[in-house]
Amino acid sequence: MEIKMIKKVLPLWTQDYMPLSEKILIFGPMETVVSGIRSTGNLHLGNYFGAIKNFIQMQHHYNCYFFIADYHSLTTHPHPTDLHSSVRRVLVEYLAAGIDPEKSTIYIQSDVPEVAELYLLLNMNAYMGELERCTSFKDKIRSQPDNINAGLLTYPTLMAADILIHRATKVPVGKDQEQHLEMARTFGNRFNRIYESEFFPEPYAFNFGSELVKIPGLDGKGKMGKSEGEGNAIFLGDSPEEIRKKVMRAVSDSGPTEPNAVKPEPIQNLFDLMKVVSAADTLQVFEDKYNDCTIRYGDMKKQLAEDMINFTAPMREKINAISADEDYVRQVARLGAAKARESAQKTINEVRELIGIRKF
Ligand code: TRP
Repeated sequence: MEIKMIKKVLPLWTQDYMPLSEKILIFGPMETVVSGIRSTGNLHLGNYFGAIKNFIQMQHHYNCYFFIADYHSLTTHPHPTDLHSSVRRVLVEYLAAGIDPEKSTIYIQSDVPEVAELYLLLNMNAYMGELERCTSFKDKIRSQPDNINAGLLTYPTLMAADILIHRATKVPVGKDQEQHLEMARTFGNRFNRIYESEFFPEPYAFNFGSELVKIPGLDGKGKMGKSEGEGNAIFLGDSPEEIRKKVMRAVSDSGPTEPNAVKPEPIQNLFDLMKVVSAADTLQVFEDKYNDCTIRYGDMKKQLAEDMINFTAPMREKINAISADEDYVRQVARLGAAKARESAQKTINEVRELIGIRKF
């Protein structure tokens, strides 16, 4: 009874003064987090504040698996050289941003063949109708009518396999992945029903800590993204010159004409960006200037660019250092693969047993 009370009041696994054995006794085993990262494009500030910062905090409180979803990216048929270099780039950038390969398990999806096996097995009970109804599939039919392959159709089964292979319960993803998660729960529950087990727990979307911040782009509208056009996103690996150039070109206007005016979207965006990279008093100076109509956007952008440069500098340096260290990158990938396979093999062995695939 008493233990139950503690469980409710204290956040799981955050009691740093407690030894591990005692934590397991009181809180139960550590919950498992899984998140897949698509291996397309470089990371930008939007990715950093929208996801990575969260991942970095989670590492201390959960059993975390972060993987680079290279199988998933094959649906668009990348060139072999491009595929390898973008997987490597994502790995390097996640390490540089602060994912710790000793605390989390960071791995490449295709290093864990058990994922492909579970995907095959789950596909036997994934129905054409439910896969065809999936919004992301319908979007693809529209956007790439010449390449509607079975991989696209079964994208949700592969994603379910990614999550279920570690029997994870927490999946830090954006709103756009909600339907895929629901399908992962459906496939897991269906498996449990068919094989009369309670083997797979239900995975749910998860946001650790505070509300996620939406980072706007530099083009005056919408969020930061790599597909929104040249100059809209600030990448973690951008040089100071590139950052200055992009920020100075950011959309603004001719300035406020009356005191305390509501900010138009492009201006609000500049302030929102400043909020995450600049000191509070710097932001206040420009707020005050905006409110008494003395603001000069050129000055604000100069300040914003310098603060972005300072913010990203340590990551840029780490990206370069890690990228040059072939041995380290290889070691991290191998360690991650070994840890991920250990967990994946446990699951797949039990799944085979439940299905009746037995060794002679
Ligand atoms: N579909 C996810 C996305 O587009 C990537 C992904 C693949 C994923 N497998 C996953 C995310 C498993 C979480 C868990 O962003």
